[in-house]
Amino acid sequence: MSVAIVTGAASGIGRATVERFVEHGASVVAVDRSADALDWVAALESPECVEPLVGDVTSPDTNADAVAVALERFGRLDAAVFNAGVSMGGDLLDLPMEEFDRALDVNVRAVALGIRAVAPAMRVARAGRIIVTASTSGIGADPNMWAYNTSKGAVINLVRAAAVDLGPDGITVNAVCPGPTETAMTARLQDAPDRHDDLRRSIPLQRWGQPHEIAAMITFLASGDASFVNGAIIPVDGGVTANTGQFRPNLPR
Ligand SMILES: NC(=O)c1ccc[n+]([C@@H]2O[C@H](COP(=O)([O-])OP(=O)(O)OC[C@H]3O[C@@H](n4cnc5c(N)ncnc54)[C@H](O)[C@@H]3O)[C@@H](O)[C@H]2O)c1
Repeated sequence: MSVAIVTGAASGIGRATVERFVEHGASVVAVDRSADALDWVAALESPECVEPLVGDVTSPDTNADAVAVALERFGRLDAAVFNAGVSMGGDLLDLPMEEFDRALDVNVRAVALGIRAVAPAMRVARAGRIIVTASTSGIGADPNMWAYNTSKGAVINLVRAAAVDLGPDGITVNAVCPGPTETAMTARLQDAPDRHDDLRRSIPLQRWGQPHEIAAMITFLASGDASFVNGAIIPVDGGVTANTGQFRPNLPR
């Protein structure tokens, strides 16, 4: 039975990933900032498969604790999903630089801390799967999202660098790049019908993604079937990044 750490596990893509791991018989250390937000774990059919861990991923202690809990509670560590993230909009000239720092702190630096925390145990095992939730917003840029765009672009190259450095130890490192997905992070857009629909039209599949569709790729990358996938940056975006952006996709026939 495999054991995974999932950060940002309280909601959206992280929660869907924990649920999918558990469906596949894995055990999970589920990390997020607030205990209340992790309450949903108790309602699972097999809550003993999930150990909630309250902590801020920007702290080295949280990352060390997650590894310690995986090893002490479940006896091994096979995969780590660094999924916790924050997004912010704001004009290039006006956004407070503290917000830029926050984007880099949570979306990039915390992932580096996480990789440094899990790699030693994976090195000993000479096996391990690290999956990072990046974004299509790290492949291209969006209007008024420069801090988020910068952070997700940086984490994509962090994934490549880690894949190169850790590959010889039998550890794979890959990034999943979701397109627009209906989660708490995008609630503001979902609550504005015009903006929700406008974005929907820019997606070739003509609909938003659901958290379980991103979780499916994440758990694939953690599975034996992905044994030769390393350093890959994989869009799960309904075709958003396939479009140059110069023209809108056709309307459905
Ligand atoms: N929803 C989308 O459209 C979309 C698109 C592309 C990428 N993503 C990425 O997917 C990942 C998951 O986002 P989501 O859409 O599920 O959003 P979400 O807001 O539902 O979940 C994010 C989770 O991360 C947690 N988190 C944030 N900062 C943290 C910290 N410092 N320490 C611990 N936990 C922290 C939050 O509490 C929350 O539970 C993020 O990295 C996000 O950037 C989302």
